Amino acid sequence: MSEFKHYTVMKTEATDALECKPGLVYVDCTLGGGGHSEVILKKISPTGKLIAFDVDEDAIEAAKQRLKDYKNITIVKDSYTNIKQVLKNLGIEKITGGVLFDLGASYHQLTQQQRGFSFMKEAPLDMRFDKQSDLTAFDVVNKYREQDLVRIFSEYGEERFSKRIAKAIVETRKAKPINTTTELAELIVKSTPKVKSSVHPATRVFQAIRIEVNQELQNVKNTLNEVLDLLEFGAIISVISFHSLEDRIVKQIFKYHSMRCHCEKNQMICHCPPPVLELVNKKPISATEQEIKENPPSRSAKSRVASCIRQKQ
Ligand SMILES: C[S@@+](CC[C@H](N)C(=O)[O-])C[C@H]1O[C@@H](n2cnc3c(N)ncnc32)[C@H](O)[C@@H]1O
Repeated sequence: MSEFKHYTVMKTEATDALECKPGLVYVDCTLGGGGHSEVILKKISPTGKLIAFDVDEDAIEAAKQRLKDYKNITIVKDSYTNIKQVLKNLGIEKITGGVLFDLGASYHQLTQQQRGFSFMKEAPLDMRFDKQSDLTAFDVVNKYREQDLVRIFSEYGEERFSKRIAKAIVETRKAKPINTTTELAELIVKSTPKVKSSVHPATRVFQAIRIEVNQELQNVKNTLNEVLDLLEFGAIISVISFHSLEDRIVKQIFKYHSMRCHCEKNQMICHCPPPVLELVNKKPISATEQEIKENPPSRSAKSRVASCIRQKQ
C-alpha cells in the first residue's frame, strides 16, 4: 500500500467534545488513518478503552501502524452498523465515555487511483470503502434502472441534469458496459450543457454513486438510532459530516431524541418519556478559518455533539 494520507478534520474540536477521561470506554466508528483515535488514546490512556471500526483494510493497516504503542485499543474490521453485536462480542455493555463518527471517505480513498473514486484518474468503476462488499459503482451504473439512477443523482448529488445523464448512461450501456471512471466522466460531460462552474460536471454524480455504493445515508441513520441504546448516562456522541443530507439526518435524530414531548398539539395529557439526549451545541460547529486555509475541503465539515441524559436500556 502507498503512504496513507489523510488530513484529520476538526481534530481538536471533535475530540475535546468527547471530554475524554481515563477509565471510560470510547468508540471511534470511523477509524480511517487513526487521527482522531490517536488524540483520544493520548487522553484516556492507560486505563480508558477505545474500540475503533473501519471497513477499509488500507485504513486498518495504516492505523494499526500509527497506534501500535497503545495496548488499550481494539481495532475491528467491520461496519459500524454492527456496533451492537461487536461490542457485545467484546463483552462491552455500555459506551461510558463517548462515540465519534467522522463520516464520508478518507483522502486516501478518494485519491488512490485503483479505488475508482476519482473522475480524473482512469480506473475500474469501484468506489467501495470495503473492498469485500458486493455492490460496486460498476453495478450501479450498468445495472440500475433509469428511474433509480435519476433518483440517486438528484437526491444524493443534487444534480440538476440527472434525467439527461441517466438517459445517456442507459443508452450507452445498451451497446457495451461502462467500465471505467473516465468513460463515465466523459459521458457526463457530453450529455450535459456547458455551464460555467468551479466544479467538474461529473462531481455530483460521482458523489451520488459513492453514497449509494456504500449505503452511507442509510448506515448513519440506522446506526445513530441504535447507538443511543448503548450510551451510558453522561456519554457523549459527536458526529462530523460533510454532506448536507448527512448533516440533516444527524440534526433530525438529535432533535427528536432531545425533545421533551412528541405529543400532538391538542393532546392534554403527556406520557412522553424524558429525552435521551441533550444538545451540547444548538448549531453545528464548523472548522476554523485557519483549518480551512490548511485543508480547504474542511470548509464543508459540520460537527454536532450531544450528551446522554437518560439511559435508554
Ligand atoms: C473521514 S474518514 C475517517 C478519518 C479519521 N477520523 C482520521 O482522522 O484519520 C472515514 C472512514 O470511515 C470509514 N467508513 C465508512 N463507512 C463505514 C462503516 N459503515 N463502518 C466503518 N467504517 C466506515 C471509511 O472507510 C473511512 O476510512
